[in-house]
Amino acid sequence: MNTESNVLAGKAALITGAAYGIGRIIARVFAEAGASVVVADIRKAEGEVVAKAIRDAGLRALSVKADLRRESDIKAMIGFTVDNCNHLDIVINNARPKLSNLPFAESLKEWDLAMDVMLKAPALIAKHALPQLLKSGGGSIVNIVSTNAFFISHQPAAYHVAKAGAVQLTRYLAHEFGPHGIRVNAICPALVDLYDENKPLTSDPVNKAVTEVVVPLKRAATAEEIAKAALFLCTDSAAYITGQVLTIDGGITLGDHFHVARRAFYNASGRSS
Ligand SMILES: NC(=O)c1ccc[n+]([C@@H]2O[C@H](COP(=O)([O-])OP(=O)(O)OC[C@H]3O[C@@H](n4cnc5c(N)ncnc54)[C@H](O)[C@@H]3O)[C@@H](O)[C@H]2O)c1
Repeated sequence: MNTESNVLAGKAALITGAAYGIGRIIARVFAEAGASVVVADIRKAEGEVVAKAIRDAGLRALSVKADLRRESDIKAMIGFTVDNCNHLDIVINNARPKLSNLPFAESLKEWDLAMDVMLKAPALIAKHALPQLLKSGGGSIVNIVSTNAFFISHQPAAYHVAKAGAVQLTRYLAHEFGPHGIRVNAICPALVDLYDENKPLTSDPVNKAVTEVVVPLKRAATAEEIAKAALFLCTDSAAYITGQVLTIDGGITLGDHFHVARRAFYNASGRSS
């Protein structure tokens, strides 16, 4: 991959939920940019596979098991990073739990799971990472959120609400941590061509056809495109950017529903509009 080399040289980056999906690619892209990365995930064995593949490429990566529902695991994963990398400069909050996709059918347990992993954990990670980021003289936190913070999809209510909260958490932390030289930003992807444990979203012909109609750029994002945006936000090129929400959606949220549905109808019926 043609990642800018060494823009993160000397930095230590902790990435949650990095055993799979977007987080796995962020870990690789950050390591290629010179960072020492810590792959944190509830799935220890899968996280170690990711870290080992990075090490096998001659780069720096370690893995740590962390269940982000537990504050003790959050503290331990930050301690592990500092013990092994000597410092902490970057945190990417990326983990998400598996939730049922039935609309508004979540149990209390699922609501708790969504809030614990996608909202409370980033807040607690920020709290426990703060002393280490201060020791580093500043740092960067990126929360991987979703366009579902603003727009409604098939995901359950708890997912939308946790993501909406993560946007305001981003703004709160940016405001509070800014005076310490710590920047906090969010990325909102929409469609990423990783779905259901790495089965590409657009391998389904219906998803592919619909994507071409509703996304102005006519495709889903790649995980690399999300990772490179996260990388940019963690470099000195973004030194004056904080509290921002970067939507990376190929333009899907620009469309007026009526107009998009009308175009789909005309495409499907072969009629010209
Ligand atoms: N994939 C998309 O199309 C898409 C779109 C918009 C936003 N996002 C966001 O991007 C991020 C990554 O999405 P993805 O599709 O790559 O996810 P994924 O499901 O592929 O990976 C999530 C990772 O989080 C880990 N995880 C789950 N519960 C955990 C816990 N309690 N403690 C620690 N780790 C835990 C999982 O083991 C997994 O490795 C998520 O925050 C998601 O909401 C994804």
